[in-house]
Amino acid sequence: MNDLSIIILAAGKGTRMKSNTAKVLHPICGKPMLFHIIQESLKLTNDISVVLAHQAEQIKEKIENKFDNIKIIYQDLEKFPGTGGALKKYDSDNQKILILNGDMPLIQASDMKAFLSLDGDIVMSTITLTDPNGYGRVVIKDSYVQAIVEQKDANEKQLQIKTVNAGVYLISHKVLKEYIPKLDNNNSQKEYYLTDIIQMAKQDNLKITPIDVEEEKFKGVNSKYDLAHAEEIMSDRIKKYWMMQGVTMHLPKTIFIESDVVFESESTIESGVVIKGDTLISNSHIKANSVIENAIIKDSDVGPMARIRPQSYLEKTHIGNFVEVKKSNLTGVKAGHLSYLGDSIIDEGTNIGAGVITCNYDGIKKYQTIIGKNVFVGSDTQLVAPVKIEDDVIVGAGTTVTSKVVKSGVLAISRTPIKIVEGFYYKFFGR
Ligand code: UD1
Ligand code: MG
Repeated sequence: MNDLSIIILAAGKGTRMKSNTAKVLHPICGKPMLFHIIQESLKLTNDISVVLAHQAEQIKEKIENKFDNIKIIYQDLEKFPGTGGALKKYDSDNQKILILNGDMPLIQASDMKAFLSLDGDIVMSTITLTDPNGYGRVVIKDSYVQAIVEQKDANEKQLQIKTVNAGVYLISHKVLKEYIPKLDNNNSQKEYYLTDIIQMAKQDNLKITPIDVEEEKFKGVNSKYDLAHAEEIMSDRIKKYWMMQGVTMHLPKTIFIESDVVFESESTIESGVVIKGDTLISNSHIKANSVIENAIIKDSDVGPMARIRPQSYLEKTHIGNFVEVKKSNLTGVKAGHLSYLGDSIIDEGTNIGAGVITCNYDGIKKYQTIIGKNVFVGSDTQLVAPVKIEDDVIVGAGTTVTSKVVKSGVLAISRTPIKIVEGFYYKFFGR
């Protein structure tokens, strides 16, 4: 595995994203697009470098928070702009160098491997497009590459070429050492073009092998439109993977599942469900239009239209419609309708009636609600936290629980007595 180094070019500005966020940090299925590429690269080698310039510090920090040992190279865009300039400061200990772009989040390790299986001092990716506009054109003769001509430098005849440079290359260490120092910026954009190594290698009779790649995977993300399109493709991939592992999905086009979500055993996901973050779902049924984020759900059913927020753990639990759960641990619980359960621990056999609210926030701090086993919490109860309800308690409907502890075996009830005023209706509305 270790004769390969990977370098990811990510110094470009990404102007067309029209965003204050660095292009490669835009998320696709919950993760910056750059992270997808790094994760796929890590399947092939531990020697990975990323070239940065625009918003370099912001990107570097994100990379370092997530990965160990990714090398950062700063490109001097003033002195050495362009894809060739990006490699000016780079060296590698390995024989082969795969050059990737930070804005190609859909490339997988298997696609990278295809480059390694080919022979040549340079293996370069090509795509044949009906509309080659914007890309460097590739001149091929007798199945070997002769030259790449950038659109801005191309003549009329070259502009007609439909085979374009996808921008991913596998080069030998020799090519890196010999030709990168010789690149100049003698072109219409006054940039150091990486593509100029092709002509030089050609003159020295080196072998340049084209590899036809899938447009869908190698097309760079340049706009918010491209971003959405790439996310659709990634999302389909994620859902297909889990369906193949036995997850049932109803109308999967309407379901959104981020890339770090994990399913275990057999689960069913109904239409319109959103599942984000580091969520684990095991042997559960998530009903239509529920939203789940950073939660663990085991042997449970949730929804329709429920919201399970971060740090929630549900086991053998029934969560019904319009129930919101946050940072709570529920085991063997039923909460069927219209509740907010935040910062709570609720134990087996407990029933949470419709409209129960944990009042967990006093405007400054959050407090916990702890409910034991076999508790019956009547509808429309407010549990003013911090509060602990021991096992075997009945809380009457409409109660506001303000005691810190409710002892085992009791009925807790707070109610304003009902008042009946005879004949009032007819007095008010008339007969
Ligand atoms: C480049 C190729 C072109 C190819 C196209 C495919 C050159 C000269 N041209 O075009 O033949 O068809 O890719 O997408 O290489 N980057 C840096 N530093 C820079 C400039 C760019 O790191 O100074 C990075 C960008 O962040 C991006 C990648 O390199 O990830 C490609 O840059 P981009 O500007 O899209 O490539 P082009 O020059 O348009
Ligand atoms: Mg450019």
